[in-house]
Amino acid sequence: MSLTRVQQISISLDGFATGDGQSRDAPFGHAGERLHEWMFATRWWHEREGEPGGTGGIDDTFLRQFATGIGAELMGAGKFGPPGWHEDPDWKGWWGANPPFHTPVFILTHHRRPPIEMDGGTTFHFIDAPPAKALEAAREAAGGQDVRIGGGPTIIREFLAARLIDHMHIAVVPILLGRGVSIWQGLEGLENDYDIEATSSPSGVTHITFTRAGL
Ligand SMILES: NC(=O)c1ccc[n+]([C@@H]2O[C@H](COP(=O)([O-])OP(=O)(O)OC[C@H]3O[C@@H](n4cnc5c(N)ncnc54)[C@H](OP(=O)(O)O)[C@@H]3O)[C@@H](O)[C@H]2O)c1
Repeated sequence: MSLTRVQQISISLDGFATGDGQSRDAPFGHAGERLHEWMFATRWWHEREGEPGGTGGIDDTFLRQFATGIGAELMGAGKFGPPGWHEDPDWKGWWGANPPFHTPVFILTHHRRPPIEMDGGTTFHFIDAPPAKALEAAREAAGGQDVRIGGGPTIIREFLAARLIDHMHIAVVPILLGRGVSIWQGLEGLENDYDIEATSSPSGVTHITFTRAGL
């Protein structure tokens, strides 16, 4: 069965997955890199960057699920680029010539453009559709594997509100941002739909998993 999964979304204690004022120089706005420092410390991240070392504990174990069983990603226009990227015909995302997805990636946007084939198996497709329709397209491209909803927070909220997420891993980072884009706003009572587990890491991050009840 092909599941719809959210993997390793980092949020602050007050529920923000990105800060205020996103721009080309500040992909996470005023949050800077504070939401992801725990990730940069791990062996998984070091391997991705071609560097030795890194921690091999629970944070690393959670991160290694990022690509396992994933056949396609769906992301929002706000993750693909900074505000105004659609006015730049050469914009191909933040990740360089060989993005870390290695699958078809569907970008939800009101500014469609032709697909872009990147190195390493990533192809960006631009789609303007309600969540359920977009998921159908991604699922077909995933060839029986799972679909990752890659963020940002606005599309994760949309997919949660439409009851389309089967499994979700959130990393709660012990910082307060005070402002930004919330992952939870408008989702009162969401916990009733899921079996929820929390695991504390010595790094200070709490990993919370949501598994659709009865799955
Ligand atoms: N903390 C983390 O782990 C994490 C993970 C991923 C991303 N992020 C951060 O999150 C931020 C982006 O998140 P965000 O919440 O601002 O934006 P987002 O969720 O990436 O994208 C929202 C945008 O997608 C388009 N869209 C959404 N639903 C659509 C639909 N049904 N049909 C067509 N287009 C649709 C709209 O853009 P248009 O109308 O402009 O097309 C909308 O404004 C970035 O700062 C990124 O770095 C954080």
